[in-house]
This record gives sequence, C-alpha cells and structure tokens, in this order.
Amino acid sequence: MSEGISQADRPQALEGDDRDLFSKFDDVIQTRETLLASGVEDPFSLVMEQVLSPTRAICNGRDTILLGTYNYMGMTFDPDVIEAGKQALDNYGSGTTGSRVLNGTYRGHKDVEQALREFYAMDHAMVFSTGYQANLGIISTIAGKGDYIVLDIDSHASIWDGCALGNAEVVPFKHNDIVAMDKRLGRIPEGAGKLVVLEGVYSMLGDVAPLTEMVAVAKKHGAMVLVDEAHSMGFIGEHGRGVAEAQGVIDDVDFIIGTFSKSVGTVGGFCVSNHPKFEILRLVCRPYVFTASLPPSVVATACTSIRKLMHGSNKRAHLWENSKRLHGGLKALGFTLGTDEPQSAIVAVIMPDLEHGAAMWEALLHEGLYVNLARPPATPAGMTLLRCSLCAEHSSEEVETILGMFERAGKAVGIIGA
Ligand SMILES: Cc1ncc(COP(=O)(O)O)c(C=O)c1O
Repeated sequence: MSEGISQADRPQALEGDDRDLFSKFDDVIQTRETLLASGVEDPFSLVMEQVLSPTRAICNGRDTILLGTYNYMGMTFDPDVIEAGKQALDNYGSGTTGSRVLNGTYRGHKDVEQALREFYAMDHAMVFSTGYQANLGIISTIAGKGDYIVLDIDSHASIWDGCALGNAEVVPFKHNDIVAMDKRLGRIPEGAGKLVVLEGVYSMLGDVAPLTEMVAVAKKHGAMVLVDEAHSMGFIGEHGRGVAEAQGVIDDVDFIIGTFSKSVGTVGGFCVSNHPKFEILRLVCRPYVFTASLPPSVVATACTSIRKLMHGSNKRAHLWENSKRLHGGLKALGFTLGTDEPQSAIVAVIMPDLEHGAAMWEALLHEGLYVNLARPPATPAGMTLLRCSLCAEHSSEEVETILGMFERAGKAVGIIGA
C-alpha cells in the first residue's frame, strides 16, 4: 500500500470560520479576472516562442521588436559569449550541484570574480546565484540587530527583502530626497551601525539618484553606503561602472551590488567592495552559503561578457542616442513620461490606469512591439506604466519604427490626441 496521504485523509475545502490562507490574494485574483474579462491578452503570460536577436522575437506567434528586456548592451547573442558558454558546458558539465563553499567553486567562478574586480577596479568581488540573492545576502548579513538601514522608499523588492531577512531597524525616506535622508540619519542613536542603501537607476521610472549629495550626507553621518547599480552597469559612467562612477563618488561607496541578468546578458548577481574584511562574508552570508552556485556555462558567459563590456564605449554612445531619441519622440507625441529628460536606458510611459495601460500594451503588441506593463507593488505611487528599456542593438531605424507604433497605438487607445 502507498505511504502517501489517502483521499480520506486529505484536508477538505475550508468551511465556516476556518481561514483559507489564500484569501489574502483575493484582491489580486479579482483585479486579474476583471482585466481578463475585458478581453485583453494577459500581459503577464507572454511567451517568447523564438528569440531571433537581442531586439527581436516571435511573441505569441508574432514577429516583435523587444523594448521591454534588460538586455541593455545586447550581449545575449554575442558570438564570443555564446562560444564561452558552449565550451564550459563541454568541459565542466551542466551544473556544479553544490554550494560555493563546498564543491561549487570551479575555475569559472574565480575567473568571473577576477573580471568583476578588474571591471570595477575594486579589491573584492563575490558572485551570487542572482542579483536578488546578492541584495538579500549582503544587506541581511552586514546590517544586524541594533544596526540601522536607511533606504529610499522606492527601493527594489530584493532590497526590502534583504532588510526583512536581517534584524536591523529599517528607516525609509522619500524617494531621492536628500534632506529627508539627512534627517533620518541624524535621528539614529549615537554609536549604532548605519547602512545607507541606494540605487543608481530606479528601474520603474528610469530616474537616477543624486548620489554625489547622498553619499556625502551618508559619510557625514558615518554611515556605510551600498549602491545597487543593476540598471546602470555596462552603460552609465565612463567605464560602465554605473551612476556612482558617472557622478564621481565610486571611491566613497562601500558596496556595489549588481546583476548578470541585465547588461551582462545571463543570470547571477554580485557585490564588489574594497572593505578589508569583505572575504569573511563567504562564510557568514546565508544566501551565498546555503544555495547551489551558478552553472559553469553561466559564469563563463558572464566572464566573457564583462570583459567585452570593458571596451563597450561605442555601444554605450549608441544606447544614449537611442534613449534620447525615444524619450524626445514620445514626449513630442504627447505621452507623459517618468522623467523630464532621458536619464538612463529606461523610458517610462505613464498610463492613466490599469485598463488603459493593458489596452495600450495590447495595441503595441498587435503593432509588433513588446514593452513591460508595470503596476503596483512594483511601481511607485500606485502608478501603471509602460516601461520601455532600450538596447544598444536597437538600430536608429528601429527607434523610429517604435515611435510610429506608439503614435498609432496611443491614438487608437485614446492616450494621446488623434
Ligand atoms: C534594482 C534591482 N536590483 C536587483 C535586481 C535583481 O536582479 P536579478 O534578476 O539578478 O535577481 C533587480 C531585478 O530586476 C533590480 O531591478
């Protein structure tokens, strides 16, 4: 006889006062059902059936321009990157089946950490299995009981979850508000450990943090500073090191968090630092220790990609041109954008509400354009927006085509005047 639970032993549907643990999701279920009842394609169930290049794919059966990926530098189809991955698969197999601190450190993990040290010109680099885990691990490990984390209220979910996993006091301040941040830091008891957590580019609106001022304020209060440069690595700054480099404060930043899932074009996360005791984190950081390391093919592709990004200044210049043209063109068409000026590779188009956002998203898809539909809790202030993220591989002609698609879809849905 099977040792599984028999039908008779299985829990029955809950009745009466018993609380269904899933009742907390009822609002989300209702919103989704209402949206789908209106007849739109589900914006959160898109399938890329075939990926043709960093900027084109067959999505839900249509040839589509991709304007909603994080593939800022277009590295996913770079021939050297692909070749490095294939060789690593052949030489090292498909996975490590172990933690970095046991059997999961291969030559490739050391190589990619060396590439990161050189990319950022920093002493230490530690690679995690995702950027999410890098924030989770670093923040929860360095800010513990009795310490204070002061962070921007619009921080990424992985930063908030890193705070939740640790036991530090968490003190948010209004988005990009230097005075509010200064005040919060000023109220922290004397002698407490302080960590300020900021992002270079905030990924929903595509706006940049005033790091020059914020890092100075943090240092005035004796706080350590962590900057998540997930959306700026490879693109912003002379060497592509991010907003801290572009604003001239990288030497005062204690920890930079980054990801391989955007400009690098694969998956993985990391932290780089000059802190003299940094290496101890390899033994005490639970999201580093208690999970399997990245597959050899992934670290090999990341390593090759990072080394190529060191020489990516032409691509960076073209991506800036794309960002400026798309931003200027959408603004001229009458769309409301997340920033007055282009500040990054992200151009956010603000929608009046979810219904219009979903209708516009679908109209663009029918035109042959994919963008991200973003809504709370990912977005700030309850906004619905269409997030456009440009790629260095979008041609100037493609950007013009995209503007034409936005114009037709915007008029059809009534977002801009006909
Ligand atoms: C600011 C920021 N940090 C961290 C992450 C997590 O990166 P990953 O995809 O590598 O988990 C993201 C992902 O979107 C992000 O936007």
